[in-house]
Amino acid sequence: MFVKRLQLSQFRNYSSLDIEPIDGVNILVGENAQGKSALIEAIYLLATSRSFRASDESEMVRHQSPEEKLPALISAEIYRVKQNEAQIDINLHETEKKSVRVNGVKKTRIVDMLGNLNVVLFCAIDLGIVSADPSVRRRYLNIELSQISPKYIIDSSSYKKALEQRNRLLKELRERPHTDIGVLEAWDAQIVQFGAPIMEKRKFFVENLSPIANEIHGELTGGKESLEIRYQPNVSNGGNGFQADFEAAIQKVRYEERRRGVTLVGPQRDDMQFLINGLDARSFASQGQQRTVVLSLKLAEFRLMEEYVGEPPVILLDDVFSDLDDYRRGQLISRVFGKGQTFITCTELHAFGDKTLESAAIYRIRSGTYTRENVSV
Ligand SMILES: Nc1ncnc2c1ncn2[C@@H]1O[C@H](COP(=O)(O)OP(=O)(O)OP(=O)(O)O)[C@@H](O)[C@H]1O
Ligand SMILES: [Mg+2]
Repeated sequence: MFVKRLQLSQFRNYSSLDIEPIDGVNILVGENAQGKSALIEAIYLLATSRSFRASDESEMVRHQSPEEKLPALISAEIYRVKQNEAQIDINLHETEKKSVRVNGVKKTRIVDMLGNLNVVLFCAIDLGIVSADPSVRRRYLNIELSQISPKYIIDSSSYKKALEQRNRLLKELRERPHTDIGVLEAWDAQIVQFGAPIMEKRKFFVENLSPIANEIHGELTGGKESLEIRYQPNVSNGGNGFQADFEAAIQKVRYEERRRGVTLVGPQRDDMQFLINGLDARSFASQGQQRTVVLSLKLAEFRLMEEYVGEPPVILLDDVFSDLDDYRRGQLISRVFGKGQTFITCTELHAFGDKTLESAAIYRIRSGTYTRENVSV
């Protein structure tokens, strides 16, 4: 699959843009704050319906004078080997919810727009995934699973709502301890109903990812290191699925939850662990080893996504290429380039080898505009 054409209007610092990227390596080069990441963000949004950096969607609508106030438009033609071409159009408004059309048909539910474009994003925040807060690793699981499982998205959003309600109720119960707790039990059932399948999916995903990452990691380290990725559910799994264990875990913390006024168990407290030769990479691995873990993880994800989808996903590399050393860069290039469409942002071209530059399309990005460059090597 590849993005055949991308059009933007009033998106971030782009007042308008029309670009036809190649089905190969697309290099977005430019100084800081010119709009390179904004382009990656737009493609990512088409695939996932979310931004990987904005918490508030309205942030992406271009700042305009109060009289203008046009919505942001993101449109793309997606070529797919396994399906017909798809046209995706997203409108972002500052005050209303976004609207999405696929082939001209309005999609009211997010899940219905997904699956037309798949991406693997590798951005600066991923470089720290091994040692960052657990929330970064949960975010990673959410992003990956949302792309491959529509049910995961539905469960996650239902879980989030149920959790908010349950927390509100726990807070009330803390203030008024004699209130009937029957209502709380209803919310227990809700968080188990939506939370258990979230944990099942996370477990399944990590268990599939781990052997592939191990194989790649072995190759990257010349057979010196093994890599194991472990899902660490907050609720222990006795082997019969998460439902019964989640219910039991809630019972156990019942008193403590009422005392503290907040939900203490569930997938909102999950984590993931990376083990190099059996040791926790978070505390033992050097910076370089951690970077190799990330690279193995991302390459494994690419392969897994290709398996799920049946064709290579689009690869988005934002601000990571120049942070990798020659060896890791070389590995990345040889493993993904030539397989799928790739977008790479960078501030200088010298990180690329002559062969890559010759076959790539190079776009110079300058304050929300681009020019195609030819580099004679
Ligand atoms: N809603 C918006 N309206 C107008 N401009 C915006 C909006 N949001 C962000 N910008 C601006 O868009 C510019 C491009 O941001 P972007 O993050 O894409 O830059 P970049 O080229 O990736 O830079 P860097 O090399 O630093 O990563 C920035 O100057 C930013 O301030
Ligand atoms: Mg950037």
